[in-house]
Amino acid sequence: GDVAVVVPAAGAGVRLGPGAPKALRLLDGEPLLVHAVRRTAAAPSVRMIVVAAPPADVEAVHALLSPVAPVVVVAGGAERQDSVAAALAVVPDDIDIVLVHDAARCLAPADLFERVAAAVRAGADAVIPALPVVDTIKEVAADGRVLGTVDRSVLRAVQTPQGFRAPVLRAAHAAAADLHTDDAGAVEKLGRPVICVPGSDFALKVTRPLDLALATHLLTLET
Ligand code: C5P
Repeated sequence: GDVAVVVPAAGAGVRLGPGAPKALRLLDGEPLLVHAVRRTAAAPSVRMIVVAAPPADVEAVHALLSPVAPVVVVAGGAERQDSVAAALAVVPDDIDIVLVHDAARCLAPADLFERVAAAVRAGADAVIPALPVVDTIKEVAADGRVLGTVDRSVLRAVQTPQGFRAPVLRAAHAAAADLHTDDAGAVEKLGRPVICVPGSDFALKVTRPLDLALATHLLTLET
């Protein structure tokens, strides 16, 4: 493998309701992070996995994941991008391709990692998995008044793993002044091209209680 995967897993998961940090919530009896790392490690391109865990849980997360795959665990930060930066800092310079993958997208299949890595290997600076948007999307004012309807055909819902030529991701993080919700957003601000590959329904982000129910069902459909 020629790829390092950085896994931000340090979020609290407030929208999922009260409980453990989100990556440690259970899906079919196992933490989301265990599901995520198992599928990450199954991708043949993956040489190294770095997990950013809640600072209080670094040792526990290492113990949890060691039976699943070899991992390096670092303390995450206050924001997702701080967690990504902390993990990126321990990726050796001789690894040319870095994928960033949210622990919350715990059922993203190994073939999605391969699709993203292959597009970077083929020459792209930054690659994101994306799906068409199913809902009609409207822009709405704070008072609830509709300002307009966005042309849905040009919109995509974006997932992880997102793949990058390592120096591009490092430069994007170094330059990022504002908060960004995904790593490709920081690359866009550098003015570098970002390309889409087809996403996967299995790469949904477990965010709300409904998503846990859906993910539980998706587990029964995996091939
Ligand atoms: O909050 P959200 O669902 O967007 O988080 C996406 C991913 O980023 C999750 O896997 C979460 O654990 C991670 N995260 C992190 N450090 C933070 C906040 C979120 O690693 N400070």
